[in-house]
Parts: sequence; structure tokens; C-alpha cells
Amino acid sequence: MADGITIAFGPLGPVGHGDIVLFVGDDLALSPTVAQALGRGAADLLARAAASERFKGKSLTSLALPAPAGIDADRLLVIGLGSEKDRAKIDWPALGGYAASKVSGRQAHVALDWPGSSVSPANAADFALGARLRVYSFDRYKTKKKPEGEEARVTALTLMVADPSAAEAASKVSEAVAGGVLLARELINEPPNVLYPEEFARRAEELTKLGVEVEVLGPGKLEALGMGALLAVAQGSTREARVVVMRWNGGDDASEAPIAFIGKGVCFDSGGISIKSAGGMEDMKGDMGGAACVVGTMFALASRKAKVNAIGAIGIVENMPDGNAMRPADIVTSMSGQTIEIINTDAEGRLVLADVIWHVQSAYKPKFMIDLATLTGAIIVALGQDIAGMFSNDDALAAKIAAASEATGEAVWRMPLIPAYDKAIDSKFADMKNTGGRHGGAATAASFIKRYVNDVPWAHLDIAGVAMSSSPSEINRSWGAGWGVRLLDRLVRDNYEA
Ligand code: BES
Ligand code: MN
Ligand code: ZN
Repeated sequence: MADGITIAFGPLGPVGHGDIVLFVGDDLALSPTVAQALGRGAADLLARAAASERFKGKSLTSLALPAPAGIDADRLLVIGLGSEKDRAKIDWPALGGYAASKVSGRQAHVALDWPGSSVSPANAADFALGARLRVYSFDRYKTKKKPEGEEARVTALTLMVADPSAAEAASKVSEAVAGGVLLARELINEPPNVLYPEEFARRAEELTKLGVEVEVLGPGKLEALGMGALLAVAQGSTREARVVVMRWNGGDDASEAPIAFIGKGVCFDSGGISIKSAGGMEDMKGDMGGAACVVGTMFALASRKAKVNAIGAIGIVENMPDGNAMRPADIVTSMSGQTIEIINTDAEGRLVLADVIWHVQSAYKPKFMIDLATLTGAIIVALGQDIAGMFSNDDALAAKIAAASEATGEAVWRMPLIPAYDKAIDSKFADMKNTGGRHGGAATAASFIKRYVNDVPWAHLDIAGVAMSSSPSEINRSWGAGWGVRLLDRLVRDNYEA
């Protein structure tokens, strides 16, 4: 993985050298501790610099003072927090991301202290999370010197807080989550000639180092299980399919039913025989964003030793045109026994999910299932690139996901499931067809998946818009967003750990 950032915690007080990051509201006042640490003259210097640069302390703005006279620091970086109202509802990951992006030195001390501040250990951990997520960039394949600025990225931050050891403990959790998000981003960003199903499975297998049990199923096993829908997608590719089942048994009772996450892992989606047009087809290397999120979430849960029994299952295939590829009009038999008429080979994600979902619910009897998939362009038309679509058969589960979404800022919007969508996928020749026509594409896709869910609480997150090339934010500048890891980790933390 790309070089990360080291974050340490220390007490508030003088630091002596290096870069110092401090925070002010729109009154530009310093806390007594910070003022004292910087020495006499600091407040005056700041006031003069702010006036000449028209720095007003607005939220997420900054003022840099290089070689500040009379202060024992290479550079002061002053970050605005805005009005009193702004300061009452700080987005901590965003603040950490912003601060990390503004530090120009290799190392900096960050004084998380301002007049009236009360920075909890959880706040400091969220700040650290944002900093870790912001500095990630995928440059493994850049052989030339990095552009000016990128190269000078911060590598170590010391967060100065009232209670360093409590903040340190809280940040162990956020470090695990950050690791999961970065792993997911890395998988999404990798090109499909490198990250094909077998290699994806190999990377998922690395979770065994964290105590995750990982089972990799190849074509023989998938055939024996009867996964005819998933294998139909894979048959046009020279790359073999894999299904990976990851188990984290962190709960007190190993026999307690697990929760289950299921991901669509199409390493490259060309559309198959119903081939996509050329424009933007390269984005389809990210069609495994759901699977990446599941692997990242399992990484996070295992790294922080979450007290939960969880299954992560991913179906990994490549969808290619070929003499052996599935065709429109083919009828395939899914593991559930239900038959599917292929109308459009580009509606392949639901075929993969149908078999993996069926396998998970029959083999593991989970408490609930959440699937994540870059499933439809239609969800992007409906909701854009900043919010995922949620479909669910269970109001209680949907409410928990909505709460975790609210808490992390990974936005979801619940979409309807009505009988008309289900009717739209009835087929003349088989039990169902794999597309439901032009209208309501995200909903008919969700209805298709629903036909493979028995009496289990289930939610489907269509993440086609958010998984990749979403709007840059304070905590993400990467194409592959790693969307959903923070949401699922939060869902587990708030509801399923004793
Ligand atoms: N992987 C695509 C959906 C997608 C589109 C993801 C854009 C991310 C960005 C999916 O397999 C697909 O091709 N869906 C089709 C379904 C249609 C053929 C019914 C679509 O959305 O056009
Ligand atoms: Mn497709
Ligand atoms: Zn796809």
C-alpha cells in the first residue's frame, strides 16, 4: 500500500521546532495554553498577518506564517474554524483531512486546542482518520518524479491534546477503519490486468494474517455448488472466477449467527456480448467496488478485533465478450434453482450477487445480509455521485443503516421496492429475465436480487455513483473512494458489539 502517515499523540505545550498547526475561530483568539506555548508576541503576529492576508478564520480556510519572528517554529499554520455555531458542529474527519493537506513540512505538531474547545478522544481519533484518508494517493504506477507539492506530503503528525493516552486508544480504532478504507481504495484503483479474480482472491487471503478465516472457491467448487448464474458471467473470460468467503469470529459466542456482507466483484465489466461503448469503459475496472468495500470492512473489523461474528463474501469475475461468452437469449440456472433468461449480458452484477447471496444465506444462516454493488447506471441518474441507493425488505435494518450513514457522512437514500418492479422482470421463457426494461433500472435490478433473498433481513446498496470518481472531498482525493467501509464499520460498532 502507498506510504501512510504516522500519527502520535502528545500533551499540549511547547514543542520547540518544526511546523505547528493551530486553530482559531472567526475571532482569531488563541487558547491560553497555545498562546503560552508560542510565547509573547504570537497573538500580535497572528493579528497582523491575518489582517494583511485578509484571513478571517472562516471554517476550512488557512493562513501560513513561515519563519514566524520570535516564535520557535519553522512555520505556523493557522486553520479557521468559523463562527461559534460552526465550532459547535465540527466535521472532525474533514478538519483532519484539511489540516493534513495544508501541512507543507514532513512533520508537524497539531495543537487541538482553542478558546472554549472540548476535544474528546473520539474527536481526536476522527481527526486522525481524516488525515490518514486525505494523504492517500495511488501512484504505484507513476515511474516519473511526482508533481511539486505531492512529493512534500506530510508523513508524521503529533496531535497535542488534553488526554493523549485516551486519544491514542480511540485512534487505534480509527486507524483500523482507515486501513480498511485505504485497502478498498487500493483494490479499486488497481488496473484489471493486475487485479483479476485470482489476484483479488489472493489479496483477500492476506486477511488471514489478521485472524480472518478465508475460504477461496474456484470454478470446480462453484460448479459443484451450482452457481450457474455467476459462472455464466465468467465464461467469456480467460480469467477464472472466484468466490471468497471471509469469516471473522470476534463475538463472545462462536455459535451465534453471523452478520453478512456481500460484494459484487466484477474486476472488469466490458458488458460482454452486449458490449459497452468505448467512452469511459476504463472506469469499469472499478466494478468491483462492492467487493472491495467488503474486504476493507473485514480488514477493519479484524484489525480492531470487533466483538462480532461477521461474514464477508465476494463474487469475483470478469465480464468479457468471447466465443464462449454467454449470449442474450441464453437461459442459465442459478444456485437457487431459479432460471434466468439473459436479455443483456451487461446486466451481469445481479447474476453474480444472486448466487453469492444464495450461498451465504443457505450456508451461514446470517442475522441479516447487506450487499454492495456498483450495479446500475440508473442509480447515478437517480441520485448522482454523492449518495448511494438503499433498497431493503426490513425497516429496522434500513433505519440502522441510515443512522450509520448519518454518523459517518457516507450518504444513502432509501429507494422503493414495489410489486410492479418485480413484475417487470418476469420472463416469457424462464423464471425471470436479467433486465427489466428502460424504466426504474436501479429498482428492477434490486427486485431481481430480492428474488434470491429468503426470509432474512436484507439491504442492497447500489454504489455505482459513489464507489469511484465521486466528487473530491476533504478526506478523499482518490478515484477509488473506498465508500462504505466507514458506514459498515459504524453499523457494526453501534448495533452488533455487545
Ligand atoms: N457495472 C455496471 C453499472 C455501472 C455503470 C457502474 C456506471 C458504475 C458506473 C453494470 O453492470 C451495468 O452495466 N448495468 C447496466 C444494466 C442494464 C444493462 C440493464 C446499466 O446500468 O446500464
Ligand atoms: Mn454491466
Ligand atoms: Zn457491472
